[in-house]
Amino acid sequence: MYHRLWTAVNIILIVGTIIYIWFFSSHNNSYIITSQFLAQIAIILFFINVNMYFIFLVIRKTSIRKVKIHLAKFSRIMMKWHIKIGVIATIIIIGHASINLFQVGPVVGFTHPKLVTGYLAILLLSVTLFAGYLRHKRASGFRRKFHLVSAFVFLAAFLLHMFIFI
Ligand code: HEM
Ligand code: HEM
Repeated sequence: MYHRLWTAVNIILIVGTIIYIWFFSSHNNSYIITSQFLAQIAIILFFINVNMYFIFLVIRKTSIRKVKIHLAKFSRIMMKWHIKIGVIATIIIIGHASINLFQVGPVVGFTHPKLVTGYLAILLLSVTLFAGYLRHKRASGFRRKFHLVSAFVFLAAFLLHMFIFI
């Protein structure tokens, strides 16, 4: 039952961002289109990483043995890619931020809410990466919570950033 909700939320997030970015927030400057394209790719990668929470949650909670074994195998494959996905998405988003800093900043001002929430998102991304690194080195109750909470605060921040109109 919950897997339907989980799949639905993922589809809504991905299709929703595609519709928002390309239909409601369309621009005709090729630099900005590039920056939007980079942001679109990166946020899909971030969504994939955030999904680890739900995979581990179902593994912990399910009483169906087949689901537990299947997801445990799946999570091992996903975790092989988890750090690479996080690092690649970060590099992509730095490209997005640089373009906007040089192309949009001087036009709308560097204190425009779109940019301020962008700085906030980058800051929270750094915290998430740092927390992920700590957790990777040595897991503890605190480190696990720290990475988990920072990942969700980061998710909230970039969704807010994305939906601010420019
Ligand atoms: C983790 C960090 C970030 C994420 C995930 C992110 C994500 C996004 C997404 C998905 C959009 C498309 C929404 C739209 O078209 O309205 C967007 C737009 C924008 N972002 Fe970011 N962003 C981040 C960091 C930044 C930073 C640091 C800045 C400022 C330098 C910035 C400035 C902008 C601007 C000006 C736009 C509107 C123009 C455009 O789409 O390129 N972003 N961002
Ligand atoms: C884009 C950034 C990232 C996001 C959004 C993200 C998100 C997440 C989430 C939601 C979980 C599941 C947490 C749980 O259920 O307790 C997780 C697990 C984990 N993440 Fe990240 N993460 C990111 C980057 C990283 C990086 C860069 C590292 C390491 C250098 C890392 C290392 C880990 C480790 C070790 C786990 C635990 C896996 C396990 O329990 O077997 N993460 N991450």
